[in-house]
Amino acid sequence: MDPVRNPYAPGAGTPPPELAGRDDLLEIVRIALDRVRIGRPSKSILMVGLRGVGKTVLLDRMRENAEAVGIHTLRVEAPESRSLPAILAPELRQALLRLSRNAKAKALAQRALRGLAGFAKALKVKFADIEVGLDFDPEPGLADDGNLEHDLQALLEAAGEAAKKAGTALVMFVDELQYVGEEELAALITALHRMAQRQVPVVLVGAGLPQLRGQMGSAKSYAERMFDFPEVGPLSPEAARSAIAKPAKEQGVKVNDDALTHIVNLTRGYPYFLQEWGKHAWDTAQASPITRRDVERSSISAIAALDESFFRVRFDRLTPLEKRYLRAMAELGAGPHRSGDIAEELKRKVTALAPTRNQLIRKGMIWSPSHGDTAFTVPLFDEFMHRIMPGNDWKE
Ligand SMILES: Nc1ncnc2c1ncn2[C@@H]1O[C@H](COP(=O)(O)OP(=O)(O)OP(=O)(O)O)[C@@H](O)[C@H]1O
Ligand SMILES: [Mg+2]
Repeated sequence: MDPVRNPYAPGAGTPPPELAGRDDLLEIVRIALDRVRIGRPSKSILMVGLRGVGKTVLLDRMRENAEAVGIHTLRVEAPESRSLPAILAPELRQALLRLSRNAKAKALAQRALRGLAGFAKALKVKFADIEVGLDFDPEPGLADDGNLEHDLQALLEAAGEAAKKAGTALVMFVDELQYVGEEELAALITALHRMAQRQVPVVLVGAGLPQLRGQMGSAKSYAERMFDFPEVGPLSPEAARSAIAKPAKEQGVKVNDDALTHIVNLTRGYPYFLQEWGKHAWDTAQASPITRRDVERSSISAIAALDESFFRVRFDRLTPLEKRYLRAMAELGAGPHRSGDIAEELKRKVTALAPTRNQLIRKGMIWSPSHGDTAFTVPLFDEFMHRIMPGNDWKE
């Protein structure tokens, strides 16, 4: 069928034509943010899930919803190589400039901007990558200690007071939180803890890989009680069906029942895979309805597209030894696997492979669901590893 009208949208952070199966989670966040806005206590929320389950599109949707009801927001993605203060500062500045346009909040927003100036200046020594436009001179003693834990707290408090005065809240949306280093994570947790205690309307809605939960716990032992960690997983069969059927229907195209069942089985309900199969089944079909046969015929190109994009971008970032480690895991199946079993596949000692395993965790390729266990963070990565490294050469 006409590829121009193809509604499906595989891609990192690409909004799907139908955001299926996430109404409950959207509602939980809506309630939490509305509570904060009217001065009621509410926990920060950190969504955790594997690659491609839809965390980024959820964050974006939640942010749109919040903005639509007058909540002030900022949105950042933690990169692997920059510091949290560096990525937060410019976004915070924008949020404060917007707040300063509110007559009631103006004075406090400007004070927070002075705080930001002090913050940036004092922390520049430690975090050389901080670059932020300065609108005001620092206010001596405000967020300018040079100690991240203290200064972040003071800065967010100043920003939150401005939001409160405007009758609203400040919500920070942070993606890929698992890349934030432990010390910076600890400072963020402490700051949010303080906001909650003082009823300052600043909260975090974050997203990250499953290891985030443990990282938060090791950064601050009380973190696991302080936040909610809803899991974002594959879609239920019904939601997965509607993710495919609804966008087609809107174009006047029917997808047969057994075609839907087949797509759900092939993708196991993982959102990224659903978009990819939907797209290829559409392009393969000659006319409505899309049949099971169309889905079968489209699988080769759907898998090839995934291999070239979704899987490939992760694979290309690996060293030869990291690739062999993942290949050994794949040899054992989908996982999780014991470190000892993986080491045995490679005929190496667990301790000798520990640095490789740690590096793979840091790169966000694997995580540890429980002590000594290792699992992929990318769904169906084991099957990809078999395709990309066939045979037994990797054992040498
Ligand atoms: N609820 C949903 N229904 C249908 N499709 C979805 C849904 N959520 C996400 N998608 C689709 O899945 C793909 C991946 O979404 P997204 O990039 O948000 O995932 P992610 O969890 O952030 O992945 P990563 O961990 O790699 O950043 C996109 O193509 C998106 O359109
Ligand atoms: Mg994402």
